[in-house]
Amino acid sequence: MKETFYITTPIYYPSGKYHIGTAYTTVLADAIKRYNKLREKETYMLTGADEHGQKIETKAQESNKTPQEYVDEMAKMAQELWTKMDIQYNDFIRTTEERHEKIVQKIFDKFMEQGDIYKGEYEGLYCVPCETFFTQTQLIEGKCPDCGREIVPMKEEAYFFNMKKYADKLLKYYEENPDFIKPEYRKQEMINNFIKPGLEDLCVTRTTFDWGIKVLKDPKHIVYVWLDALTNYITALGYMSEDETLFNKFWPANIQVVGKDIARFHLIYWPIFLMALDLPLPKTIFVHNWIMMKDGKMSKSKGNVIYPETLIERYGLDATKYFLLREIPMSQDGIFSPEEFIQRYNFDLCNDLSNLLNRTVSMVNKYFNGQVPEYNGTPNEIDQEIEKISKEQIKKFETLFENFEIANSIQEIWNLVARTNKYIDETMPWALAKEEKTEKLKSSMYHLIENLRKIAILIKPIMNETSENILKQIGVQDENLKTWKSLNEYDKLKHIKVIEKGEPIFMRLNAEEEIEYIKQEMKK
Ligand code: MSP
Repeated sequence: MKETFYITTPIYYPSGKYHIGTAYTTVLADAIKRYNKLREKETYMLTGADEHGQKIETKAQESNKTPQEYVDEMAKMAQELWTKMDIQYNDFIRTTEERHEKIVQKIFDKFMEQGDIYKGEYEGLYCVPCETFFTQTQLIEGKCPDCGREIVPMKEEAYFFNMKKYADKLLKYYEENPDFIKPEYRKQEMINNFIKPGLEDLCVTRTTFDWGIKVLKDPKHIVYVWLDALTNYITALGYMSEDETLFNKFWPANIQVVGKDIARFHLIYWPIFLMALDLPLPKTIFVHNWIMMKDGKMSKSKGNVIYPETLIERYGLDATKYFLLREIPMSQDGIFSPEEFIQRYNFDLCNDLSNLLNRTVSMVNKYFNGQVPEYNGTPNEIDQEIEKISKEQIKKFETLFENFEIANSIQEIWNLVARTNKYIDETMPWALAKEEKTEKLKSSMYHLIENLRKIAILIKPIMNETSENILKQIGVQDENLKTWKSLNEYDKLKHIKVIEKGEPIFMRLNAEEEIEYIKQEMKK
């Protein structure tokens, strides 16, 4: 039986068009899913929409729609974007679906029966856009620590979840499961900023609006945002429903990907809810950093928003995904700038990768009529070295990618691309041809094609179309030579013919013109 792999993204607020920053979480999760699929696991990816709350009620009113009409439109828009970005999700859950609402009510009742939820009164400082109460000490300069906006005092009858009861258990879990939170420094943040100062109980219902899941036994209360939203990861699998097949198969999740702004909810409340349900915790929660602009956050008022569609339509999906995944390191935010985007396109994709392919295909055509020479069984010193280096680079890629150091892992592929380009200069095929050193020339062509095959497989989780395009141009048709496993092979290419005239996979762009183009698009 295949090993299973369950990966989730956060469910998104229905807030209009997603910019490239918002799209990042899902692009990242999709790449991780594709990698694991290539590693022959049975993968399942969940994404969706977080559709309840006061903010949505208000937004719908503003646009003269019912909340349901409003969220229907938004969910459709989100799914269209994911299709455009070729995101291979298996399920798209919406919190307004019956399959979710019914189970949230059951979970709420269970928590009540267990005494984890109690009725009280909330008096506190509230951020309306974030739908979150804060304590005085959590505020930053008197404003919401998450979004920086004004907060208002608020008082109401509400139900609370007894978080304090689970604080020690959570700390112990962190300690005993070093892979639970990645990167490691996020764990320390949680402990120092939230757990050590004393966990507050969490307000889990509201009475001031309607658009949400009603508490069955006290219907003037609406289940408040995080208990509703977080449970999507298990309701989508049919937890507590008549059919728990998917749940039994895929829970606990292998990885849950979340952006840094929602780390606290996923690293504290979510595991505590799961403990209260007596369920196993996800193996890893991975917190990623953000894409920023040179002048801070993307915002319409600053006129610095860039949408994925803009980049995809002009530069293609693969270049867009490459940039996003290449640009955010594990330890800090990444920056989008038109200059950087075009530079990566021209240097990494065009100069390094596309040229390597072009030079190789044209040499195999020139020296061997397009027929790739077969492995000669006795590699010379230079060839042995390139074999050794490709093996090492593959290993480095796997180690980094599996630790979710995606940007660094991609760097390792490009190190291999650079090293392979250098190999052409070292072996000097044109000189070998002149001197009629046929054996060496054959070996050089063989190793170049073999490295391109490996590079194509390595980029597959990130740039699927480019990967297929490279394999097609170098004439690799056998499916067995496209698998992850086949990365360990170096002598199996037989009867391979490259195409006669390869189209460049990336064409050099006029940098000035394109930078200006992106800048104009951002101002629109
Ligand atoms: N609805 C909540 C999540 C509930 S999960 C049970 C939510 N939604 S969101 O639409 O605001 O954000 C979706 C994802 O986009 C989050 O992971 C968030 O961190 C991410 N990003 C939003 N802006 C981003 C950048 N500029 N860069 C990278 N990721 C960003 O939060």
